[in-house]
Amino acid sequence: MSPGPDRSALVAAGRRHQWLALGFDESYFDADPIVVSGGEGPYLIDAGGRRLIDALALQSAGVLGHNHPRVVEAMREQLGRMTSNVAGVLPSDRSIELAAKLTELSGGELSRAFFVLSGSDANDAAIKLARQYWKNRGRGTKYKTIVRRHGYHGGTLATNAASGNNRYPHSAFEPLPAGFVHVESPYPRECRLCGGAGPCTLACAEAIEQQLVYEDPESVACVLVEGTMAVAGIVPPPPGYMARLRQICDRHEVLLIVDEVVTGMGRTGEWFEFQSEGIVPDVAVLAKVLSAGHMPLGALLAREEVAAAFQGPPERRFLAGTTLGGTPLACAAALAAIEVVAEERLAERVLWLGEQARARLLALQERSRIVAEVRVRGAMMAIEWAADGEAGTPFADVGAVKRRAIELGREHGVHFFGGPPQSLLLIPPSNIEEGALEQLLAAVERVVAGIEREFPA
Ligand SMILES: Cc1ncc(COP(=O)(O)O)c(C=O)c1O
Repeated sequence: MSPGPDRSALVAAGRRHQWLALGFDESYFDADPIVVSGGEGPYLIDAGGRRLIDALALQSAGVLGHNHPRVVEAMREQLGRMTSNVAGVLPSDRSIELAAKLTELSGGELSRAFFVLSGSDANDAAIKLARQYWKNRGRGTKYKTIVRRHGYHGGTLATNAASGNNRYPHSAFEPLPAGFVHVESPYPRECRLCGGAGPCTLACAEAIEQQLVYEDPESVACVLVEGTMAVAGIVPPPPGYMARLRQICDRHEVLLIVDEVVTGMGRTGEWFEFQSEGIVPDVAVLAKVLSAGHMPLGALLAREEVAAAFQGPPERRFLAGTTLGGTPLACAAALAAIEVVAEERLAERVLWLGEQARARLLALQERSRIVAEVRVRGAMMAIEWAADGEAGTPFADVGAVKRRAIELGREHGVHFFGGPPQSLLLIPPSNIEEGALEQLLAAVERVVAGIEREFPA
């Protein structure tokens, strides 16, 4: 293999030519930037040869880590057979196999899979589906989508409107599509309802019902929620919350759409988080984890009754989708990833993983001045910090603290990324080995110790 350009040449060209996503600008290239050139399991490999644990593995898509050999092999095999990479309208052997497999994994009730490209694209399509579903059923006044503060559903115009995360301000893109109504989310540390101090009263679920009634259920098409909110900082739903939402949606004849873009593929102990919560949504939204981050791929899984509303004359059909949504190559990657998750029983392993991490992070909280909260759901974990720990007074410059935490992480061999400024998120691969998990948790301890030292109360 011929050597590529060296790291400094890449950094110079990157600064000059690549316009980075998610609001990063040229200054990214100033301070020891990571320029990815490879990956292996939990590690990403920098063009300078550094191996860093990817704490938010593949931007939370990496349930199997980077370049899983079985997934790569399945993709290689598929590339050898494929004459066209266009999925568009033509189903393929792989897309049909994957659709059937997803139905089986969902427990059978979500019997139709519709393929798209990404999480944003999938949520966008889910919102369109909900609106058209009611039109097709002769109830076209039902068009609104109820969403939540702190939620994140993507970067398209409609999914920006559906997101409630104040780190992704929307004003630059206004006017946003109409028809989105934001309500409180179950974020105990910021709860304005039952206050987060005592046991949760599920007032946050009641708030959804009250808003729904206020809007008039005849104007509402769907409620769109994540189970555990990922971008918000790994905030799991309180016990009973998702079941309550299911009841509310049934009572008012509104579709319940659950965004499983980060939480699917066994991350919470079941194939999908809604199964951990004992409910079946009307539509589940998948992406990122579906191909374990190896290919762009998203999917909607819908109940038969929902899909049935789109059968019949042409005007009833669901006119969503993209040219490259659900390519045989992407579906082959997803099928191989599913096999690995099943064979290695990773949905069970994440519970062990989560408990290992919880014990270490709680012990850290005990001895630390700054750890305010530890949150764990399966293989997803977060610590939240504050200048005085549990009392919750924010650091004066919370952005500076996070930037320093990321630098310290690098010094200890870990790439931390994402999440709110007051939190450090860990979403390691579900198959991370004990040695790498130890390295990751030890780095968290050192980062917290460093922040404590450098940012006195
Ligand atoms: C819960 C959730 N839904 C949707 C998305 C958007 O997915 P994508 O970046 O693939 O468009 C994200 C991205 O972080 C997410 O966390």
